[in-house]
Amino acid sequence: MLRTNNCGELRINHVGKEVELCGWVQKSRDLGGMTFIDLRDRYGITQLAFNMETNAELCKSARGLGREFVIKITGQVVERSNKNLQIGTGEIEVIVEKLEVLNTAKTPPFTIEDNTDGGDELRMKYRYLDLRRNAVRKNLELRHRLSIETRRYLDGMDFIEVETPVLIKSTPEGARDFLVPSRMNPGEFYALPQSPQTFKQLLMVGGFDKYFQIVKCFRDEDLRADRQPEFTQIDCEMSFVTQQDILDTFEGLMKHLFKSVKNIDLPKFPVITYAEAISNYGNDKPDIRFEMKFKDMTDLVKNKGFKVFDDAEIVVGICAKKAATYTRKEIDELTDFVKRPQIGATGLIYMRVNEDGTLKSSVDKFYNEDELKKWSTLLEAEKGDLILVLAGAKNKTLKAMSELRLEMGNRLGLRNPDDYKCLWVVDFPALEWDEENNRWHAMHHPFTSPKPEDIDLLNSNPGNVRANAYDMVINGVEVGGGSIRIFNKELQAKMFDVLGFTKEEAQKQFGFLMNAFEYGAPPHGGIAFGFDRICSLFGGQESIRDFIAFPKNNSGRDVMIDAPSTTDEKQLKELSIRVQI
Ligand code: AMO
Repeated sequence: MLRTNNCGELRINHVGKEVELCGWVQKSRDLGGMTFIDLRDRYGITQLAFNMETNAELCKSARGLGREFVIKITGQVVERSNKNLQIGTGEIEVIVEKLEVLNTAKTPPFTIEDNTDGGDELRMKYRYLDLRRNAVRKNLELRHRLSIETRRYLDGMDFIEVETPVLIKSTPEGARDFLVPSRMNPGEFYALPQSPQTFKQLLMVGGFDKYFQIVKCFRDEDLRADRQPEFTQIDCEMSFVTQQDILDTFEGLMKHLFKSVKNIDLPKFPVITYAEAISNYGNDKPDIRFEMKFKDMTDLVKNKGFKVFDDAEIVVGICAKKAATYTRKEIDELTDFVKRPQIGATGLIYMRVNEDGTLKSSVDKFYNEDELKKWSTLLEAEKGDLILVLAGAKNKTLKAMSELRLEMGNRLGLRNPDDYKCLWVVDFPALEWDEENNRWHAMHHPFTSPKPEDIDLLNSNPGNVRANAYDMVINGVEVGGGSIRIFNKELQAKMFDVLGFTKEEAQKQFGFLMNAFEYGAPPHGGIAFGFDRICSLFGGQESIRDFIAFPKNNSGRDVMIDAPSTTDEKQLKELSIRVQI
């Protein structure tokens, strides 16, 4: 070892000790007679002191050190006269006796401080410098802890971790595949896994009745704060289980993570159906840190001469507690918010329940005091509350109201990142209608089992078939999703048929799985968690990017290594690829 100690561990009880430290020069201060340097490593910062009087040569060398130089020093720990109790090492400093420059450094393009002056793109380009910052390092330490605790819990439950291949053929999870050309098989491509879905099912056929893997998945889809083209799942599968067994096992995993990493005891997770989630929150991943449930006002408000409501498929309201004092300007801001093209509402109706009990709405012309009283009864509004109402086509209006509810949650301070509210959403529809391609599409994936009592509807009314599928949602984030699988060849073939695959297509793409079902497939089911999302939730942030060591930007680029990039003709030729742009 080049060092006896790290930069975060020396304390007052080390005074007198002769130490060797290595690290990066965070900053230096030259006070004439003395020069001080903050030496930084992964563990913290230790103040180094150089004395001009006792060792002028050394002090001069110290003054020549630039930011981020890598140095090694030998010196003695002394008590500091000017203590800094904000940091662990703040009671001591090291009087340097020997200084060795291990490497010089160019001036970094941004300051390596908690509050850096570097913008996103710059920090991504020099990610290795960004990684030196406390904030990013702490996020990766958190990620490490969460992966260790995940393995500890699952190992304790007899799960075994099995690696599945990365060069595979398409697994339908709803996104586009990344393709890899095969040199040895001209004109043919591997697909990178969107998930190990089919392999984990084959592992069940192979008798590994409890499997997990912390695994990279690849999806070529539009990126958002909580999506990366390559991301990590905690992927799990179990045999001989019911849906309830899976919910219990993985609620247990989440409780274990919260307890071991954050010392938080979570209560039992509520379970709500997809239908309830949509009607109460307009969203299949509701944030239940606050109530503000939707109330269907359609029957109450129709036929009173107000055209917007009369023409609407649905009229839905929420009650924002203690928001009656919202000014005209604030209401206008909310109106602009819901009218943004991404949300697409045509307008916003409101009603104030004033502190004196009077009711004031933006549609007083059409609704008298008695009518408005009915609104406040339905929405359980009290004095001081504000009712917000949207109307229009059903799906669009519920979606818009869901956004407005979250916005009001933010504005009213109801979405505290340190408050964790988990739930299960169950009974998802098995299928959704794909307008663009005019066909049914599996809402989870085609291997998901319909509820046995709904199987008959596959022929008559596919849209009403519910699946044994479930999502775990925490604070409005879908952290995981899974299902009980089809394990019967005929039912799987039927599902492919409903999804519009011909027999030949199904056989070509998934024959390996259906064949496996002929050799004694056990009943099985599972779940996969978005590991990056769990990390960002635990870290109290919305973006998963800073919990990934080397993430991609919003256009899917790694700006540090400059990927993706063009390649030379020779390589393309070897791969039998002709490029035309
Ligand atoms: P699903 O597609 O729901 O299910 O994915 C599981 C979880 O993975 C996370 N996730 C993502 N995280 C970051 N970036 C992305 N692009 C991204 N896409 C998904 C989400 C999601 O809940 N094979 C099934 C699971 C199963 O049925 O067992 C699957 O992959 O948190």
